Order: sequence, then structure tokens, then C-alpha cells
Amino acid sequence: MQLEPMAPHSFLLYTILTFSLSFHEIFATPKYIVINEAPTHGGGIKFEKVLGGVPATQKLMGDINIFLWSNIFKQNNPADRKPIDTVEVFIKDFDGGEAVTQGNRINVSAIYLRDYAGPLTLQKEFSSLMHHEMTHVFQWDGGFKNIPLLEGIADYTIMKANLYPPAFAKPGSGEKWDQGYDITARFLEYCDGLVPDFTAKLNKMMKNPFDVSFFQNLTGKPVDQLWKEYKAKYGGN
Ligand SMILES: *[C@@H]1O[C@H](CO)[C@@H](O)[C@H](O)[C@H]1NC(C)=O
Ligand SMILES: *[C@@H]1O[C@H](CO)[C@@H](O)[C@H](O)[C@H]1NC(C)=O
Ligand SMILES: [Zn+2]
Repeated sequence: MQLEPMAPHSFLLYTILTFSLSFHEIFATPKYIVINEAPTHGGGIKFEKVLGGVPATQKLMGDINIFLWSNIFKQNNPADRKPIDTVEVFIKDFDGGEAVTQGNRINVSAIYLRDYAGPLTLQKEFSSLMHHEMTHVFQWDGGFKNIPLLEGIADYTIMKANLYPPAFAKPGSGEKWDQGYDITARFLEYCDGLVPDFTAKLNKMMKNPFDVSFFQNLTGKPVDQLWKEYKAKYGGN
């Protein structure tokens, strides 16, 4: 057996660089820009004091990214992921909901942070909100053909992360499959039970404009039939 000559230094360096590049590609997270635009507002103050401000939020976002890629969308191959290089969060004094997400920008209402008095701790509530909104940033949008389904997938993430309030829909509830939010999240959970990784596969198909036939494609049954069987399973809750 003949030994290879020792690798010249430049070759070694090349190998190390190549390795660190692929390592980087696998674990690279986007850049997280977090700006508290309401530092003197009651909600902005809570953001700093209760939620740990910018550094804690950046860490949370990194953790959510890993959770989305590995547990929700099952995109262990970075090539499958939606290419996003920056996610921005603004804590802002605006009325009109908890948060607004547009593209890769999430605006969180300082009023909402100040006044939240629900059943979760503010930390859990904020984490839940960030899971929902970051799902919007990283999900494939299916050409925005079915917005309630996009909301359902965002709530599916908070359900999987165990970050939902007691009032979250129980399995079998609702009037139609694309009622949105928690109702649709529970239906997707049911579909996961029929086809492993159903929701991840559906998300992948939504790189293309959404069509109801995606349900038939994945399960062999039209979505209306799935919904009937789902309702029947839970006694028409
Ligand atoms: C979010 O906040 C940023 C920064 O203040 C602002 O420029 C942007 O218009 C806001 N987006 C929405 C959708 O309100
Ligand atoms: C399901 O969709 C994929 C593409 O998304 C397609 O290649 C395949 O033929 C479809 N299968 C059925 C049974 O419709
Ligand atoms: Zn949403």
C-alpha cells in the first residue's frame, strides 16, 4: 500500500475552507435586526425589562428558526428553505393588532406588549407570537391563494411548540378546513396522522400556487372528504 504524499499546506487550507463553508451553509441563520422604536412606551419598557430586549429576542429568533426548519418544515437540506438573509423586528407604538408581518419584517405593537393580560406569561405570549410571525416569514406562500391556510400553518407552529393558550381550538372543532388559525392547525395535525409529515409536505408544495388538489395529491382524498372524516372522528365537535 502506498501512502499519499502529505497534503501541501494550501491543500489543507482549501479543505478546511470547503468544510467550514458547508458547515456554515447547514447552520447559517439569517441576520436578526431588532429595533425598539418605542423605548419610553410602557410596552417598549416591558420589552427591555421583562422580555430581555434585543439580545434575548435575537436568541429567540435563532431558536425559532431551528425549530421551523427541523420540526415544522423538515427542511434539513438548506436548499429546501426559503432563502431569507435578514429578519427585522420593530417594537412600535401602533394600534391594530398584536403584530403585522410583511415579507421579512415583523412589527410588534408596543400597546399589545403593555396591555397583555392573557393566560400565558408575557415571555410565553411573546414567544408564541414570534413563532407565529416567523412562520409567515419562512413558509412558502402558495401565491397567497389561501390566506386562512397560511394562518393555520402559523398557528400549527405554536401548537407544536406548546405555546398556545387554553382557548386554542380542540381537535375536531370548526366549520370548515380553511377557517384559519387554530381551527386549521388542528385539521393539519389530523392530516399529519394520515400521512407522516403532511404539513411539511404541503408547505413544500406551496412553492407553487396553492390548489385544493394538493390535499388529494398527498392523502389520496379530496379535502372535503377529509374534513367530513375529521369531523366524524371527533363526533362533530
Ligand atoms: C413596520 O415598521 C417599520 C419601521 O417603523 C415601517 O417602516 C413599516 O412601514 C411598518 N410596516 C407595516 C406593515 O406597518
Ligand atoms: C403530486 O404533485 C407532484 C408535484 O407537486 C406531482 O409530481 C405528482 O405527479 C402529483 N401526484 C398526484 C397523484 O397528483
Ligand atoms: Zn398570522
